[in-house]
Amino acid sequence: MSKIKNICCIGAGYVGGPTMAVIAAKCPEIKVTIVDLNAARIAAWNDENLDNLPVYEPGLDAIVAQARGRNLFFSTEVEKAIDEAEMIFISVNTPTKTYGLGKGKAADLKFIELCARQIASVAKSDKIVVEKSTLPVRTAEAIRSILDNTGNGVKFQILSNPEFLAEGTAIDDLLHPDRVLIGGDSDEEGQEAIDALVNIYANWIPTERILTTNVWSSELSKLTANAFLAQRVSSINAMSELCEKTGADINEVARAIGMDSRIGSKFLKSSVGFGGSCFQKDILNLVYIAKSYGLDEVADYWEQVIIMNDHQKRRFAANIVKTLYNTVSGKKITFLGWAFKKDTNDTRESAAIYVADDLLLEQANIAVYDPKVEETQIHADLDYLDTRRKKENRKGVTTFNDPYEAVKDAHAIAVLTEWDEFKGYDWQRIYDNMKKPAFVFDGRNLLDGQKLREIGFVFQSIGK
Ligand code: UDX
Ligand code: ADP
Repeated sequence: MSKIKNICCIGAGYVGGPTMAVIAAKCPEIKVTIVDLNAARIAAWNDENLDNLPVYEPGLDAIVAQARGRNLFFSTEVEKAIDEAEMIFISVNTPTKTYGLGKGKAADLKFIELCARQIASVAKSDKIVVEKSTLPVRTAEAIRSILDNTGNGVKFQILSNPEFLAEGTAIDDLLHPDRVLIGGDSDEEGQEAIDALVNIYANWIPTERILTTNVWSSELSKLTANAFLAQRVSSINAMSELCEKTGADINEVARAIGMDSRIGSKFLKSSVGFGGSCFQKDILNLVYIAKSYGLDEVADYWEQVIIMNDHQKRRFAANIVKTLYNTVSGKKITFLGWAFKKDTNDTRESAAIYVADDLLLEQANIAVYDPKVEETQIHADLDYLDTRRKKENRKGVTTFNDPYEAVKDAHAIAVLTEWDEFKGYDWQRIYDNMKKPAFVFDGRNLLDGQKLREIGFVFQSIGK
């Protein structure tokens, strides 16, 4: 089974889509089929117009154009693709549970379990099943238990192959990863399965960057990597509040500590708070696992990263209210950016959602401009929080396709995402069209404060 000719990936989202597109582009002899239950999503992946792909990622359109129809296919025929494939990647979403035991902390594995059951019922030949989604440690065991009890004699090997790509740079991360991690069983059949996956990545990744471990180490490494990264953001954000009180500048502090090679300069940008589908979810998973083993100190240690992040979002919103003379009721506040970071249309756990929610509680009128996020998504994000009725969310939040329209007559601008284009705006024109005094709250340390102050803005930036 070491030469794979046919791959199926279940889940055509932010992970499955770009990852499989790159595998297909780099391995033209392998047929890669990505399936999803969501027919609209599959139709968008198949859209002639590459601007309509459901995931926005720089460079993704070119990769899809290269492989789609040749050896890359998007389909809703889940069972057919499972049946044909020798290797199946599970890349479905694993949101935090919103009900029952572990609510708000543990990952909801119902989509994963459904996939495992589907594979079990369809498979007629031996398969390698690869966990791609971020999963709590020991999920492979659950998948194995479902697959091994099919009673039809089919043999399954289960590998963990966590994804380390960051959205916005996914294609580059997939083409030139720092490392690829593959966890599998140490017996002969496990090793064969590991080799089969190593051979795929070896088509474009130097073998010294492909690490193999046991399944549990691989699963835990993914959670640990994300916990460490998120911890860096919370650490710098904790210092940002201290900087604001004491007159230090967080950028200067970050630069000074980042030049210490033991600390390193990356991931030290203070912000309104981290978002994205992974950091919070993975830390909550870690906290849940630690608690379930009675490791309360370990759980509390990591939980603090989330507590700090929530505080950072809340204090950003509270500062806007305080600075606007303790009331934003009826005032127009314009958000530049809604995505959780630049160069993506993904909004999951974006700080913007929580800042908007707090300001809506204060009866502000929120205007939003984001270069890539659709209006329906913005409304869906707020509705999902369930703080108020949908009608009120629609009334309180208006979206714009033109940034200059969005800022017209606004009392304040809040920068929530670090999109490059915001820096190049005609800020004099923006100033002229706003209510005075005109406030800018830069949650990303993005804009040139000196220039804006010279124009006349009252300018505040995180950590300064
Ligand atoms: C993360 C991990 O980086 C990636 O390896 C994993 O596979 C998935 O989770 P992602 O969430 O896509 O990737 O983006 P990332 O670049 O890590 O940013 C996460 C959040 O942290 C964003 O909201 C970002 O704006 C914020 N951030 C990041 C900061 O506020 N400051 C920083 O210095 C870095
Ligand atoms: P991620 O960021 O992990 O890629 P997404 O939510 O972007 O998460 O994508 C996950 C995709 O998996 C969704 O498009 C969803 O419709 C799909 N999905 C979930 N469960 C199944 C399933 N049992 N079969 C096929 N697709 C599924």
